[in-house]
Amino acid sequence: MMDNSLSDPAALLRWYMDAGADECIGEAPVDRFKAPAPKPTPAPASTPSFTARAPVAAPAAIPVVAPASFGPHPADAVTSVAELKTMVEAFDGCGLKQFASKTVFADGNPTARVMFVGEAPGADEDRQGLPFVGVSGKLLDRMIESIGLTRADSAYITNVVFWRPPGNRAPTDEEIAVCMPFVRRHIELVNPAVLVFVGGLSAKTLLGTTLGITRVRGKWHEYTSPGLAAPIPAMPLFHPAYLLRSPQQKRFAWRDLLSIRERLAQSKA
Ligand code: URA
Repeated sequence: MMDNSLSDPAALLRWYMDAGADECIGEAPVDRFKAPAPKPTPAPASTPSFTARAPVAAPAAIPVVAPASFGPHPADAVTSVAELKTMVEAFDGCGLKQFASKTVFADGNPTARVMFVGEAPGADEDRQGLPFVGVSGKLLDRMIESIGLTRADSAYITNVVFWRPPGNRAPTDEEIAVCMPFVRRHIELVNPAVLVFVGGLSAKTLLGTTLGITRVRGKWHEYTSPGLAAPIPAMPLFHPAYLLRSPQQKRFAWRDLLSIRERLAQSKA
């Protein structure tokens, strides 16, 4: 809902940009509610009788298209993270891309032992082309640092979709589904010692569950996909945006972070 304080033109423009309307496509406004001008009806060649009806054309047969099979995806053939990034940037099959300014692929160290997978880029991420750089990203950085890691050297961060959904809505199942082969391959190529699903949407998508974050966090899960030699231990974590709204839940996130630290230490030994 647009707020009344937006009588300021700059704030109004910002509101439009946040809603995804960030491109000028014409000089003059188009009134799409205006009724179209009536088309002139051609005069009949002769006065039709009530019985002489024009023959109704038989409807064309609707072709039956077989559902697409889930065969190999081009991303499966990619052998490096850099090549996958180029492929994602060139991909035009996700509707979100048309509203986004930048593709948000990943940040951090792709050889890190822990990979964080969030939900979707927001406005700050869209502007910078990097995941988790806004307010919740700052908290995620502190969470990462609290267990002795850093974004630049010892963590790798991505999302389940690579473009910002307009107005920060949740990505749809279709938008997630078209990104998923890239995300799956991304995880296979990084092959971290530990995966962290940041937020309920990421956990649901990558664990293939309908259970909410409160039910799945605090427990270790196994993430697997065809290109992995062995399953990867995965921990769902409360999303930092949720923790900012509900700071009393931080104690649970802290427990999960300690468990991640312990698992990383064990897997190193
Ligand atoms: N929230 C996410 O889930 N991902 C981002 O990149 C930013 C905010």
